[in-house]
Amino acid sequence: MNEDASLRLMSQGLAAAAGSRPAAEGEAMLNLNEIDGFAQALIDKVNQRIYGRMCDEQHNCNYLAWAIAQAGPGDHLEIGTLHGGSAILAVLVKNQFGLAGNVVCVDPLDVYYIGTPFEHPVDCVSNIPVTPETLAGNISAFGLDQRISWVQAKSIPWPEELGGHTFASAYIDGDHWGEAPLADWLNVRHRVGRMIVFDNVDMAAHPAVCAAVAQAKNDPQWKCVLERGITAVFERVAFQVGDIQLRREIPVAEGATV
Ligand SMILES: C[S@@+](CC[C@H](N)C(=O)[O-])C[C@H]1O[C@@H](n2cnc3c(N)ncnc32)[C@H](O)[C@@H]1O
Repeated sequence: MNEDASLRLMSQGLAAAAGSRPAAEGEAMLNLNEIDGFAQALIDKVNQRIYGRMCDEQHNCNYLAWAIAQAGPGDHLEIGTLHGGSAILAVLVKNQFGLAGNVVCVDPLDVYYIGTPFEHPVDCVSNIPVTPETLAGNISAFGLDQRISWVQAKSIPWPEELGGHTFASAYIDGDHWGEAPLADWLNVRHRVGRMIVFDNVDMAAHPAVCAAVAQAKNDPQWKCVLERGITAVFERVAFQVGDIQLRREIPVAEGATV
């Protein structure tokens, strides 16, 4: 990690928390105002150039970017990719902070939310198709063909193509209904070494995501370090090895000095 990146990461931590909602357990250590704008320049770049859209609301992309930076080197997993915006952002964040690792996406890329009440032949906000062609075009437009790959499948059951692949971080942003968010959490929690981010944590529209987040909070190997807007970020605090639980110490990001 270069010096600028280290300094920038350092600046994210340790200031007093701001915000109206009670802090998540680890959150009191964080400068929330800085995290709100953590990667805004990169987000703007994606929004300006993407064909289609990135789901960018209530600073969720900044929180995702922050979590990816905290996770350090290693691959990033994305469940739910749409037109590729958040996957592209993930690579841009890794590049900015000098972090090794590529992005692997899982998305059926067929019809927007096929099989749910939200099924639509194209993305209902942008009217741009959710297809491998749209995704590939966006990845190429950003020159990231070597950095982003995808499995065209639902995340449940866990795609065979992913085998035993492990990741530094993951974004859960696929099917937000029924058993899916919890199943995604249970599938990724033992495949991810550092940070897991939930999108769409809003009780009114996505109660199943909130239920999954509630269950994740009971997981002794994970700690909710940021819960803000529609985002929840979990950091691994322990690894289970047989009967033994190896604890790692918080706060976030050894080497990143936060
Ligand atoms: C909200 S969009 C993702 C937005 C994207 N992460 C972004 O920030 O731009 C949700 C995506 O999840 C995909 N999806 C729906 N069900 C899925 C499932 N079971 N597994 C993986 N992806 C799924 C949809 O095709 C859609 O592209």
